[in-house]
Amino acid sequence: MSTAVIRSSSQKNKQYQPYIDAKWGLKNHWYPALFSDELKEGEFKAVTICGEPILLRRENGKLYAIEDRCCHRGVRMSKKPFSFKPCTVTCWYHGFTYNLENGRLDTILAAPNDPLIGNASIKVYPVSEKYTMIFVFVGDADYAPVPPLEHDLPPPLEKEYVNYCKNLTEDGALTVGIHRSGESNWRLAVENGFDPGHVLIHWKSPLVYAHNLAVPLGARPITDKAVSIIESDDGPIGIRNNTVADPDGTWHYDLVLENKELGVKAVGGNPMIGLRTSMWLPGVLRVENFPFQGVNLYEFYVPTHEDKYEYWELMTFDPKDEEDKKRILDQYEHYLKKAVFHEFNDDDLWARDAMQPFYQNGVGFEEEKLGEMDAIIIGWRKLVARHARGIQDAPKELNGSSKC
Ligand code: FES
Ligand code: FE
Repeated sequence: MSTAVIRSSSQKNKQYQPYIDAKWGLKNHWYPALFSDELKEGEFKAVTICGEPILLRRENGKLYAIEDRCCHRGVRMSKKPFSFKPCTVTCWYHGFTYNLENGRLDTILAAPNDPLIGNASIKVYPVSEKYTMIFVFVGDADYAPVPPLEHDLPPPLEKEYVNYCKNLTEDGALTVGIHRSGESNWRLAVENGFDPGHVLIHWKSPLVYAHNLAVPLGARPITDKAVSIIESDDGPIGIRNNTVADPDGTWHYDLVLENKELGVKAVGGNPMIGLRTSMWLPGVLRVENFPFQGVNLYEFYVPTHEDKYEYWELMTFDPKDEEDKKRILDQYEHYLKKAVFHEFNDDDLWARDAMQPFYQNGVGFEEEKLGEMDAIIIGWRKLVARHARGIQDAPKELNGSSKC
């Protein structure tokens, strides 16, 4: 008599339990907060990342990021921030005034001798402005050393790679994009981004019709090289779908072109040459050569709340000269922004929202039935469990902690 080993769902989840616990995101990582042009000189702007309210300020060309929660009575200072003196923010309620460099309580408008002054502070965040965006490092106040931003972004492709296209971190890159909020947990968004089985939702997209793109019904891993894991002690950590043939012509995915039982065939005739997806910690997608050759598409899924994320959609081009740059920007403004970031990606947005009720409270992670097409999703979860620099806790006011 054979004795079958039945693995319970809780055993299964132990393989990547930190990922299951990461409802509020991964801490000690860099996240985009705003596009550079969304924060003008002298402005304050508020964002939420991994449940943390953050106030951004640009002053005399310098950027600051500080906790957007006054330590006096906890209000968000961004409701009406004052700045009476350089490098400070004064809370609109009772005048607690903080130094933007170090978060220290420097004075109180109506109580300049209060002993709290110099003895209380709020959190400040490392901030970096690069690649058209303002990034904030969200994590433990004492986390050191803060890793370079580039460790949390996809690395450049090798110049010799036959399907090379310019990375957003490379000189001369032209990057454009938008961001908006999605109504699901950030993990569902990530897993949709590089899911090799989800192309059905894009089947009737106008972009597919306009370019007669060859869209398979799905992609099935057929060798143990279908998925590559990129692990490094000193660089980005990621996982890639190898949907491009090796130089010797070997394929690692089988493109499913027909389901005879359902009488459904793949559409389109123009192959998407060089299209390859990869996902990088803490949740950055790169789609190489999409929507067409020579363009890299990126998506960031920034956790904001347990059932919300900020969805960043970017494309990087490699303009030959100023004239070419103008042409690309025109094409982006009048066509690609609508056709790719809205029509095409809107389908992903509602698909993620549709998963949220099942995964609410973690039930979905227990009850889901993942198949062979989901191998890379399991690989991603394990990768995060191994390499996340920390798992973000729920905000204090939600987890009932009495720490203040
Ligand atoms: Fe900010 Fe009182 S709540 S000063
Ligand atoms: Fe998609």
